[in-house]
Amino acid sequence: MKNNIAVIILAAGKSTRMRSETPKVLHNLCGRPLLGYVLDLVASLKPKQVVAVLGFKQELVRKVIPTGIKVCIQKKLIGTADAVKTGLAALKGFKGTVLVLYGDNPLLKKETLKKLLDYHIENNIDATLLTAQLKKPSGYGRIMRDKVFSICGIVEEKDADEVQKDIKEINTGIMVFKKESLDGNLKYIRSHNRKQEYYLTDIIGILAKKNYLVDGVRLEDPQEALGINTRAELAKANSLMQQRINEKLMQDGVTIVDPASTFISFGTKIGVDTVIYPFTVIERGVKIGKRCSVGPFAHLREAAELKDDVTAGNFIEMVRAKIGAKTFVKHFSYIGDSSVGSCVNIGAGTVTANFDGIKKNNTIIQDKANIGSDTVIVAPVKIGRSAFTGAGSVITKNVPDNAVVAGVPARILRKR
Ligand code: UD1
Ligand code: MG
Repeated sequence: MKNNIAVIILAAGKSTRMRSETPKVLHNLCGRPLLGYVLDLVASLKPKQVVAVLGFKQELVRKVIPTGIKVCIQKKLIGTADAVKTGLAALKGFKGTVLVLYGDNPLLKKETLKKLLDYHIENNIDATLLTAQLKKPSGYGRIMRDKVFSICGIVEEKDADEVQKDIKEINTGIMVFKKESLDGNLKYIRSHNRKQEYYLTDIIGILAKKNYLVDGVRLEDPQEALGINTRAELAKANSLMQQRINEKLMQDGVTIVDPASTFISFGTKIGVDTVIYPFTVIERGVKIGKRCSVGPFAHLREAAELKDDVTAGNFIEMVRAKIGAKTFVKHFSYIGDSSVGSCVNIGAGTVTANFDGIKKNNTIIQDKANIGSDTVIVAPVKIGRSAFTGAGSVITKNVPDNAVVAGVPARILRKR
């Protein structure tokens, strides 16, 4: 693939169909904003230039845009053609291929885009569309073809008649252009349609009519086409993305007993031979070592870090917690803002009381400590090496190494 490529990412739209105050592209998909997936995809292509077109609540969207990507602001959200025009203004000196991506298309794969770009460049095409054949094409623009099966236009669902609505080949929204063919013809697009918007899709009909070379590449896996406009589509994308994440982890040597009930965030690192039991939720920023056992019904949140051979059993919640190797937290526990050593046993029902009503406080539990069932650890506090806490004790003061403590509040009974 030649490298003379610029990418315009359209992410200015409102969340009208999401019925949300949050920009659509910032909605969460498996632990990160939708737009993150598109940005990764773009980075993997190593294009010469990247422009993101923002509009609705741009100050929020901007926060997820990495440096090196130019940001252009679409002043009035009057359609995808106007958004592309806005983006092109930042590509004044650029000559070559322009790839247009929509920010609401997170399931798209790198290999697919490479294929599309290669086809476009090798065949010297003016506009190449990525299309998909869907059983239920509703909501998408339909691809119109003439008698010799050449693409002659796109009709949006809202403007389509009954015959056109029957067309199963859809526009994924991903298009590649020769820059000059795009730039020179955007001005012919009108807003005479149901939404009174300037549709980028109209450029296809315009180019075809003027005998520019227009062609399409069809997606092998139509799931990649999923554009997210509604919360139902978001849920669908979430489950497809989750499948991908779980499958990759299984390939890499993690046992997931029931992938359908296991929710693991994008980017989670899990070591080989770890077993994840059903109904487990693992949020963004969690690390799990080798040979661990997690769940069933475990909830691991941000910055939970399990070293090798850790058991985090049923009904466990952990957040900002480092758990040392060979430590057991087997039943009903909340471990937050904690640093737990290795070979520690944390009895059933143990709670770190990390929040004093104003701020979060840290708990330290050192190696080989033995925390009795139902211990409440009122942070900030440190429990020393090989210390024991009795069942039901409330720890309010530091516990020295080897001490045995019990009671409410806990007192030292003896040394071991
Ligand atoms: C669009 C296509 C449709 C295609 C579908 C694929 C048009 C007119 N229609 O429809 O053919 O089948 O995607 O998912 O392009 N945006 C802006 N500025 C605007 C309007 C939109 O930046 O003024 C951005 C949005 O943030 C979004 C993208 O463009 O990321 C697409 O807009 P959206 O409203 O989702 O278009 P669809 O109705 O899905
Ligand atoms: Mg869309």
